[in-house]
Amino acid sequence: MPLTILEEIQKAIEFIKKFYPHTPQVGIVLGSGLGNLVDEVAIEKEIDYRDIPHFPISTVEGHHGKMIFGELKGKKIIVMAGRFHYYEGYTAQQVVFPIRVMKLLGIETLLISNAAGAMNSSFRVGDLMIIKDHISLFTINPLIGINMEGLGPRFPDLSEPYKKALIQKMKAIGKRLNIPLTEGIYAGVTGPTFETRAEYKFLQLGGADAVGMSTVQEVIAAVHMGLSVFGLSVITDIGIREGDNTITHEEVLEAARKAEPKLTILFKELIAEL
Ligand code: HPA
Repeated sequence: MPLTILEEIQKAIEFIKKFYPHTPQVGIVLGSGLGNLVDEVAIEKEIDYRDIPHFPISTVEGHHGKMIFGELKGKKIIVMAGRFHYYEGYTAQQVVFPIRVMKLLGIETLLISNAAGAMNSSFRVGDLMIIKDHISLFTINPLIGINMEGLGPRFPDLSEPYKKALIQKMKAIGKRLNIPLTEGIYAGVTGPTFETRAEYKFLQLGGADAVGMSTVQEVIAAVHMGLSVFGLSVITDIGIREGDNTITHEEVLEAARKAEPKLTILFKELIAEL
């Protein structure tokens, strides 16, 4: 008999607990070019994804592929250095596997970041957007299949996927540190193609402010399990352009790296206030 997903998660947890027995409080997923928060962590243990039973392995440039355990601002945290994207060929269940592992290891809050293209015409490259809601109609829902009651309900409510209280805290932090923050709706798509002009327009008309190839599946799995989620997008390109509309992965990574120090400070401060 093949193992159920829940059994696979249990095996992963048993393995991790052998090396790291503490209970972390916060889980952090860092997007493309946004990995430097790790430098701020008092690292207690690092475990390569490839060593953890049933863990998928990350392949994309700009992703490291390890789980980092340690302390930041007095809190026990886990950083996922490298995440799994649907476009890499993983199933939706594999994409969210690490989120489930982190929850069962004990985290209560998930902080998530990504690089995103903007449809909101007031956004500029380098802006930071607090995700206040998302549209996930273009991706495969990771909860499709037999529901694991041990994780959460069959029909989870998604009226507040990104916790308002955390958004309020972050807005106050942004003001205090003089770091401008915008707020908007993130549309999750599968990629790996960047959008056509018509698709950017379609997403804009549908009410999205930014678009990206990650996050929404992870957030769905997190909310299913009752985690409090905070999400931040770094705007790395402008989707709605009249003239030159070509976008490259290099351009996205470059813009993400430039904005990265701001994201690191903001996440650190939010963790301090949890
Ligand atoms: N579209 C989709 N995903 C992205 C983009 C974009 O414009 N920028 C960064 N990730």
